[in-house]
Amino acid sequence: MATPAFSEEVPDTAPLAESLSQQIMTHGPMRFRDFMLAALYDSTRGYYSQPSQRVGKQGDFITSVSIGPCFGLILARRLADYWSKIGKPSAFHIIEPGAHDGALCHDLLTEARKNSPDFFQALHYHLIETSPSLRTQHAEKLAADFDGKFSSRSSFSEIQNVTGAILSNELIDAFPVDLIRRRHDQWQELRVDHGDDGLSFIETAIGDPALADFCHSLDQRASYPDGYPDGYPDGYTTEYNPGLRDFAESAGKTLERGLLITIDYGHHADDYYHPDRSKGTLQTYHQHQKSDNPLASPGEIDITCHVDFSRLEKEARLAGFHLLNLSTQASWLTHHAKSWLLELEQTLTAETPHLLRQFQTLTHPAMLGTRFMVLEMEKPATDRDLS
Ligand SMILES: C[S@@+](CC[C@H](N)C(=O)[O-])C[C@H]1O[C@@H](n2cnc3c(N)ncnc32)[C@H](O)[C@@H]1O
Repeated sequence: MATPAFSEEVPDTAPLAESLSQQIMTHGPMRFRDFMLAALYDSTRGYYSQPSQRVGKQGDFITSVSIGPCFGLILARRLADYWSKIGKPSAFHIIEPGAHDGALCHDLLTEARKNSPDFFQALHYHLIETSPSLRTQHAEKLAADFDGKFSSRSSFSEIQNVTGAILSNELIDAFPVDLIRRRHDQWQELRVDHGDDGLSFIETAIGDPALADFCHSLDQRASYPDGYPDGYPDGYTTEYNPGLRDFAESAGKTLERGLLITIDYGHHADDYYHPDRSKGTLQTYHQHQKSDNPLASPGEIDITCHVDFSRLEKEARLAGFHLLNLSTQASWLTHHAKSWLLELEQTLTAETPHLLRQFQTLTHPAMLGTRFMVLEMEKPATDRDLS
């Protein structure tokens, strides 16, 4: 998977908006994917590169991980079951891209050690995180309890042909995207320009072949017999996530055998690219408030897009995975929490009410239960594994 890196030969200390304006004045309008890459991942001024807390109640948005240990507890049980099902291999690697500060790793390893010591014995956890400042937090959070059990890296390209699972929560929604808009029955790419009033969007012809292919696939979708007879309305805007293919290909190379579990908000393609969703899914967050101007305050706000789960599934199939399940977070977690919920009936501890409250937040339809989807795919054993 291509790791985002906004490279600058000489580190630039100007405010990010100023540097981006300067680049646009020198080189012309910038692709939105490059703007988003800089806004989120510039090595010093990007949103995820700065020390401020981004995730959780004190940050800009909550994630299932930040709700508390319940999420990691259920994931640990799911993975322990899978490990048993495939014959308890002596080494099982969990690779977590977008590991942020290591909270999910901590919760998952804690549960595995407590509930499935043999599984814990087999585990190697690899935290993959683009942000150097977040990577420094991994050892701080994990070394005391789990020394020797984890590694912290900027990309998973050097982990190859292992048995295990690639697990991500809200990773793909943070990949840089291209923006496209329907104008006079043609697709246009939205680029970022600079004028008297600061940064603004400009519509430009599509030059990138991969983006042109994607636009073509939307036109085909509209022309299916059960498609959209009126086509896409003028001004219809949507996104293309170029990192999906790389992600799926890297996952295929990393896992010789195992699970790909992708948790995020998103839609099937039919729903994602319905003409009624005329403004696309791009959103920004700052202190739990949404806004609709992604060009305001680059580096200070989160910019995110929903995931096209149909395309992700297709790319992962090409990389050797098959579909096990695409469901809401509520039904997936409820299914895999069964053994835990039954045990709770026998053994109540002081922690139980907190964990149950977290479980409710994670699964309630009005909270995180139906906003998030879980895509579970498997790369099966090869003949070589079985011999
Ligand atoms: C929305 S946050 C989610 C954090 C965490 N998974 C959670 O659920 O709380 C996205 C995280 O993914 C990281 N990230 C984005 N692209 C990445 C990539 N290609 N490889 C590794 N980490 C990445 C960001 O730096 C950020 O920490």
